[in-house]
Amino acid sequence: MRTKPAAVVVYGATGHTGRFVVAELRRRGFATVLSGRDAARLEALAAERADVDADVEADVVVRPATVDDPASLDRALAGAAAVVNCAGPFALTAGPLVEAALRAGIPYVDVAAEIEANAAMFADYAQAARRAGTPVLPAMAFYGGLGDLLVTALLGERTTADVVHVAYGLSSWHPTPGTREAGAVSHRRRAGRRVRFADGALRYHDDPVARQDWHFPQPLGRRAVIAEFTMADVVTVPSHLAVPEVRTYMSVEAAGDLAGQDTPAPEPVDALGRSDQTFVVDVLVDAGGVERRATARGRDIYAVTAPLVVEAVERILDGRTRTAGVASAGAMFDAADFLRALAPHVSVDLPH
Ligand SMILES: NC(=O)c1ccc[n+]([C@@H]2O[C@H](COP(=O)([O-])OP(=O)(O)OC[C@H]3O[C@@H](n4cnc5c(N)ncnc54)[C@H](OP(=O)(O)O)[C@@H]3O)[C@@H](O)[C@H]2O)c1
Repeated sequence: MRTKPAAVVVYGATGHTGRFVVAELRRRGFATVLSGRDAARLEALAAERADVDADVEADVVVRPATVDDPASLDRALAGAAAVVNCAGPFALTAGPLVEAALRAGIPYVDVAAEIEANAAMFADYAQAARRAGTPVLPAMAFYGGLGDLLVTALLGERTTADVVHVAYGLSSWHPTPGTREAGAVSHRRRAGRRVRFADGALRYHDDPVARQDWHFPQPLGRRAVIAEFTMADVVTVPSHLAVPEVRTYMSVEAAGDLAGQDTPAPEPVDALGRSDQTFVVDVLVDAGGVERRATARGRDIYAVTAPLVVEAVERILDGRTRTAGVASAGAMFDAADFLRALAPHVSVDLPH
């Protein structure tokens, strides 16, 4: 039996996603260190949690830290069991946070959906993390994590496929400031070019944005999608599976919302603070001439990131992992078992 971890640090705790992650950690009885760059906002969140979590025994503490001050990050992580990084743009925060985690010898998990930042995690920290035996899990979130788990579960014992398609059927997408900022950073990093994963590598291109129809399972049915709308799955899936083509698609409604300058941030409409956004993630894998399909459904891509990331932390701390070092969700966990554990937040259709 694992003794209760001292604490899980959430960096970027006061952000939209960070707050969902803190709530999920508290719901599961974890002690929580609220960290980030704004001490006053962290204190306000701690006060709020003290009211909400009156019956949770484990502590909430506040430890402000900035990514340009490694000593402050070391203080934030001292004595903790793991750190979850929810502060984007990850181009700025992921390096300093993973280095602090490696110094502290504790697992690092992030929710980054920035393709170049995700790829840099594998390229820059694989050796150090392996040598330290420390789990480092990038993109453990709706984008990057969920799709990778679905693909891995579909393939079972197989480690190769010819083509993977991941189609995102979002009813809408009201982006947070962090999402917009991450998009802007990625856009600048690519000098305005677009990116896709083809012939076994990330390829930058200037092809025009194209639309096609995607046949989602009922009740969604046929919908127009942007093809390709490249998401973090193009890093996570090929990080551990031999797949030369990973293609991702986005419903045109959601892509339009994201592009709109006036689209508002998400509004909570239920007791859990979730918005009314619904999602379907439809995965098609073509392997050796056999097509397999898995679908996940749920509500609010930001809120659902919390059970994904906290389930991952819990499994890492329990030793329910398949590998150490830098790894994606599909490589690190028993994918089918992980997906089952996401109920009721995510309902998954996997072939038997
Ligand atoms: N992969 C996925 O599916 C997925 C899901 C959810 C979120 N995300 C990503 O997670 C990030 C956060 O999203 P969000 O929805 O929580 O956005 P948000 O509500 O705007 O929050 C952003 C958080 O990041 C912090 N932050 C930004 N720059 C920072 C810096 N240089 N140093 C320290 N902290 C910094 C902010 O701190 P302040 O309050 O001090 O500004 C805030 O806490 C975004 O990059 C988003 O794309 C990805």
